[in-house]
Amino acid sequence: MDKVVIFDTTLRDGEQAAGGTLNIQEKLQIARQLDNLGIDVMEAGFPASSPGDMEAVKLISKEVRRPVICGLCRAHPDDIDAAWEGIKNAAHPRIHVFLSSSDIHLLYALKKSREEILGMSREMVKRAKSYCEDIEFSPMDATRTEPSYIYKIVEAAIDAGATTVNIPDTVGYTVPGEYAALIAGIIKNVPNIKKAIVSVHCHNDLGLAVANSLAAINVGARQVECTMNGIGERAGNASMEEIVMALKTRKDFYNVTTNIDTKQIYKTSRLVSELTGFSVQPNKAVVGANAFRHESGIHQDGVIKMPITFEIMDPKDVGIPASSLVLGKLSGRHAFRERLAELGYSLGDDDLMRAFNAFKETADKKKDVTDRDIESLVAEQQRTVSEVYHLDKLQVTCGAGIPTAAVSLTAPDGRTVADAALGTGPVDALYKAINRIVGVPNKLTEFSVNSVTEGIDAIGEVLIRIESEGVTYTGRGADTDVILAGAKAYMNALNRLLSARKPSASVKSNH
Ligand code: KIV
Ligand code: ZN
Repeated sequence: MDKVVIFDTTLRDGEQAAGGTLNIQEKLQIARQLDNLGIDVMEAGFPASSPGDMEAVKLISKEVRRPVICGLCRAHPDDIDAAWEGIKNAAHPRIHVFLSSSDIHLLYALKKSREEILGMSREMVKRAKSYCEDIEFSPMDATRTEPSYIYKIVEAAIDAGATTVNIPDTVGYTVPGEYAALIAGIIKNVPNIKKAIVSVHCHNDLGLAVANSLAAINVGARQVECTMNGIGERAGNASMEEIVMALKTRKDFYNVTTNIDTKQIYKTSRLVSELTGFSVQPNKAVVGANAFRHESGIHQDGVIKMPITFEIMDPKDVGIPASSLVLGKLSGRHAFRERLAELGYSLGDDDLMRAFNAFKETADKKKDVTDRDIESLVAEQQRTVSEVYHLDKLQVTCGAGIPTAAVSLTAPDGRTVADAALGTGPVDALYKAINRIVGVPNKLTEFSVNSVTEGIDAIGEVLIRIESEGVTYTGRGADTDVILAGAKAYMNALNRLLSARKPSASVKSNH
């Protein structure tokens, strides 16, 4: 059976999603998990776009040794040099050069002729090839480009040394039949096509990214570019978990395999959601909370008798933990550690102790502690490891009177600083009190609360986004007390902002 190369661009196109800033350590954490997942190529970033991206790409190249590590660049000498600088220490480096090919882009964005673009493609692929054997070339906006011109540009790129040619549906405009015909046309009409792998890269503006990618694989594309949870620019990219599970579930139809360890999908999805702050919608295929829940009595009855009646995939195959040994306040450290291991976490002794203490506190407030609670607790512990300011105490009064908040924080120099403020509501008062101490101007742009499980004693997860000097920072916090969860989320966002302003920290790439 043919292999389809899984090219993951969660850390590049995925991170381009509005509000999806990741710091360098978070990128490395995701990179390590993508490695566990078994992706073949990891697009780690766009080194020329920001010093933060450069640093992250360098770090990932050094630390993640199994997959190909790819750096993106425009067809411009300085960009190509920067991409090489970023990935040159990778065990398997790849440079990915892109250049617009559609008349719309040539006329309005680049103001160049088709001949000029052809020449640039050739020259810039040659430059990249002088650094590295593994070169990918993408004619951007390919699906709005005349096919006969795509054939020429692809041929020129392969001639100059491209080993993968990627055909992006940059604006999510194509439809499955049309895209399949374009890919089939390339395979048929580009004379040197056998020297390269044909890749596809689809955006989801019409909700067709996965369908388009699969249609292209069906006619011979053998690399697919995708992101975990489908995150990415605008409506996102093709979702990796959907493509991989479609190829696996319908291998009778597609007759291809991938190197993905599908049991790592759920864990990767949770991590990406947690770190980017993009929640996964409940009805999301494969990884949504309802993806394997059966509500109708007829379906439930069928699944009890034989799961195959209404389940086309086994939830265990995507790593959804077989549910669910519920822990409570009498559960000991051993049972907790076992459950963590079953959920795919292996914590060091200190982290385990911290997580266990948090579990005990939760179990005191809440009768049953479920898997989702445990995931939320571990995430909360991981959030608080590298804090600039630490939240010590918090007192909020609200109701018919004037909402008031008093907070005390530990400052970076170890001092305890306390202050208080009035507000229009408890959260407003709380954020104002924190602002009086931290003193970094910012605007709250998003605030949402979700309960992790059902029931009045559920843990509430607060997600917020704040904006400062044009950059968005995400914060998350979890607690059975939603006001406290809101405070933790705000501290998390402020700490990210403060860390990002340290000289070595990452800022959102500007591409
Ligand atoms: O969507 C697109 O065209 C891209 C290219 C840089 C490959 O992301
Ligand atoms: Zn893209």
